[in-house]
Amino acid sequence: MSVLVTGGAGYIGSHVARMLAIRGEHVVVLDDFTAGLRSRVTEHSVETLDLAAAEAHAKLLQIFEKHDVTSVIHLAARKQVGQSVEKPEWYYEQNVGGLAKLLEAMREAEIKKFVFSSSAATYGMPDVETVSETIDCHPINPYGQTKLIGEWMVANATTAWQLRAASLRYFNVAGAGWPEFADTVVANLVPIVFEAIRAGKRPKVFGTDYPTPDGTCIRDYIHVHDLAEAHLKALDYLEKDERQHSIFNVGTGNGSSVFEVLAEIRRVSGIDFEAEQLARRAGDPPRLAADVSRIEQTLGWKARYGLTEIIESAWAATS
Ligand code: WQD
Repeated sequence: MSVLVTGGAGYIGSHVARMLAIRGEHVVVLDDFTAGLRSRVTEHSVETLDLAAAEAHAKLLQIFEKHDVTSVIHLAARKQVGQSVEKPEWYYEQNVGGLAKLLEAMREAEIKKFVFSSSAATYGMPDVETVSETIDCHPINPYGQTKLIGEWMVANATTAWQLRAASLRYFNVAGAGWPEFADTVVANLVPIVFEAIRAGKRPKVFGTDYPTPDGTCIRDYIHVHDLAEAHLKALDYLEKDERQHSIFNVGTGNGSSVFEVLAEIRRVSGIDFEAEQLARRAGDPPRLAADVSRIEQTLGWKARYGLTEIIESAWAATS
């Protein structure tokens, strides 16, 4: 029996794969290595495949058979919001097309346990500051749209052929569970600020006139180790609950402002930098934090780490 982790060579996927291996599971990492790193997956069986490729269905059936795959954790996706606005067709082909091929092959192979990497981006700009899974989702960019459509596809599969699935809506992931798994893609606040201050440049703050205590945007920053653990809890849940499709926010339930993140980075790095204060960035809600009552009550999962551990682990991992 094996767990297939698609995107398992990625920043989050490598944490999930290692935590599964530590608890004794046989892990098969599937990745196309366009963003994932081979150095992150030396301890696992590895299969190289682009899930959106024409041959993916046949290849997946072979992989399922070869490794006796009995469950799938699906993280492989394109995830940069700005890039999704520039290249929407590619995002749909990769994220929606890739998921369709994966589900088709799983149906044929009768693999019925599935954890899906979704996103808080499905919420768009909600008019509530702490979001629960029950609110209406209105994604405002192609990336968030592909994740919401992915959730619909998973729900349809649970109805059509009794797939048992959990969709996890990630909030703002940062930190490093192990230094070698640090986030190497400079596309979110923490790695962007690290890169700027290490180059002696001033990091940029997009908007200081928001209706928040210090005027900057508030987000729910979740440690990648906590996030990875939520995947294992979700997988265990699918073993023992007949419920077909569940959606869970994965966050801390607390918010930190951009200025608070910068202050923590000053403290941890010892670099006393000044930030450049710029105009708001389009599409940024003033505050977005997770209502985490459902995942805590249903999966018995709760984030253990806060902003300090996130910044300390991320800084150490990239120093
Ligand atoms: C965070 C805050 C920026 C850079 C992302 C993606 C998606 C989802 C949630 C998983 C915002 C501000 C940023 C900078 C800044 N996660 N900022 N200066 O947009 O909250 O959402 O995470 O699917 O990955 O939707 O993340 O890191 O871009 O921005 O002031 O140089 O930091 O305005 O308020 P975001 P982010």
